[in-house]
Order: sequence, then C-alpha cells, then structure tokens
Amino acid sequence: MVAYFVTGTDTGVGKTRVSAALLQALHRAGHARVVGMKPVAAGCDWVTSEDAQGVAHGQWLNEDVAALRAAGTLAVPPLFDNPYALPDPLSPHLAARQAGEVIDLDHIEASFHALRQHADAVVVEGAGGFIVPLSEPDPVTGEGAWATSADLALRLQLPIVLVVGMRLGCLNHALLTQEAIASRGLKLVGWVANHVDPDMAAQDENVATLQRRLQAPMLARLPWAPQADLTELASGLRLPG
Ligand SMILES: Nc1ncnc2c1ncn2[C@@H]1O[C@H](COP(=O)(O)OP(=O)(O)OP(=O)(O)O)[C@@H](O)[C@H]1O
Ligand SMILES: [Mg+2]
Repeated sequence: MVAYFVTGTDTGVGKTRVSAALLQALHRAGHARVVGMKPVAAGCDWVTSEDAQGVAHGQWLNEDVAALRAAGTLAVPPLFDNPYALPDPLSPHLAARQAGEVIDLDHIEASFHALRQHADAVVVEGAGGFIVPLSEPDPVTGEGAWATSADLALRLQLPIVLVVGMRLGCLNHALLTQEAIASRGLKLVGWVANHVDPDMAAQDENVATLQRRLQAPMLARLPWAPQADLTELASGLRLPG
C-alpha cells in the first residue's frame, strides 16, 4: 500500500489535476486498486440521481471529488473518499461553520484507514494550501481547537507531494511550504511545477530556482494547458521514490 498527501502553494494551483495524474500513474505502475480521497471539499452542488427502482437520491457533490473518482479504479462509499462535503466555497473551517459541522480529524483518519484497507494506492488531496484552517475553537464557548490541513497530513503520517502553481510569488509560497512540512517532521517526496500562468516572466529561471532550493525531486513540469490530457500527464509524471 502506498499513499501520498498532495498539497499546493495555494488554492487553484492544480492539485486535483496532479492528483488525478498521480492516480493514473500509480495504476500503470502496477497498483490495481487506486483511489483518491478529498477529506474536506468546500464548494459542492446538490446532485440528484435515480437508483435502479427509480427513486431519486440527492447528495452534495464537489467537482474535485468527481475528478478523483473518475481517475481512480476503486468505487467506495462517499463517507470514505469525501467525509466532509460542504456546500459553501469558503475556507474549510468557515464552510463547516456555515453547514453547522465541525471537521474532526479522528473522523477523517477513520475514513482514511477504511480506504487503505481496500486499496493498493491512495492519493489524498488537501484543501487549499498547506496550513489552511480546517477547524477553529467555537467563537462563543471557546471549546475545540485549531486544526489545519498540515495537522491532517501529520495525523495520517503521509509523504507529501507539493504542487507549485507557477506564477509570481510562487517561490516564497513554495519555500514557506517546504519549511512548514519539514518543521512537522513530514517528508516532501516530490514536487510538480504547474504552469498556471502562460504570461509568467522568466519561467525557466523560476523552475531552476525551485530545483535548487526544494529538497526533493521535480516529478513533472506541466505546461499551461486549459484542457489536460490525463493519460499524457500521467505518462510524463515520475513517481515519488
Ligand atoms: N497547467 C495548467 N494550465 C492551465 N490551466 C490549468 C493548469 N493546471 C490547472 N489548471 C486549471 O486551473 C484550475 C484549478 O486547477 P485544480 O482544480 O487542479 O486546482 P486545485 O489546486 O486542485 O484547486 P482547489 O484548491 O480548489 O482544490 C482548473 O480549472 C484547472 O483546469
Ligand atoms: Mg482541487
């Protein structure tokens, strides 16, 4: 069983795209049952579908969760691959508050362990950037504690893959994230340079700087491409060692 935690320098930097490609690459490398997990998805649509008896069922569905399911080879109950599906596209702790929920790392950990029992490879996609808050002390009673996406990665004890959204400012974000990973005793096992800004200046020089400063191998350099061919991305992705 192998498992990775995919984080990013920010929200919208290509974590889902890279996680989906990683699932496909792991499958090709011989892991038969590969599954993605999005522990906390903030921003969902209400989707209804009919079962075999023609009875309509509704659920909150997030597009990252749908993309990971499409890239995986193992179908699991939603509780396992997406324990928190929150309607509002906000920071997870705020989206949870809006939904009247509290994100509980114990619950996510239990879902992850259920998944890993059934799978040969699990790719966990974090929410937003590495230290995004998942829960906060209750503003009225003060009960509860701050927990972040980094706390979740630590709890699951997973090696980290960092997606760097190549745009102005990304060197700072990438290096801060590297420090935050190391300071928790976690291991950065690889990173991906994802060109999300076609007009970024000095692209090669920025990638070269990251290659010199990030203490893990670059797994891929993905060109700017609004429509990605997942099979092509997967074949160009080096697997973390
Ligand atoms: N290399 C690229 N070139 C062009 N567009 C890209 C590239 N990579 C990702 N995108 C687009 O940018 C958007 C954000 O990508 P993606 O959803 O993978 O990011 P994310 O880090 O998973 O975001 P979130 O924090 O919401 O989970 C998507 O519309 C995606 O198609
Ligand atoms: Mg995503």
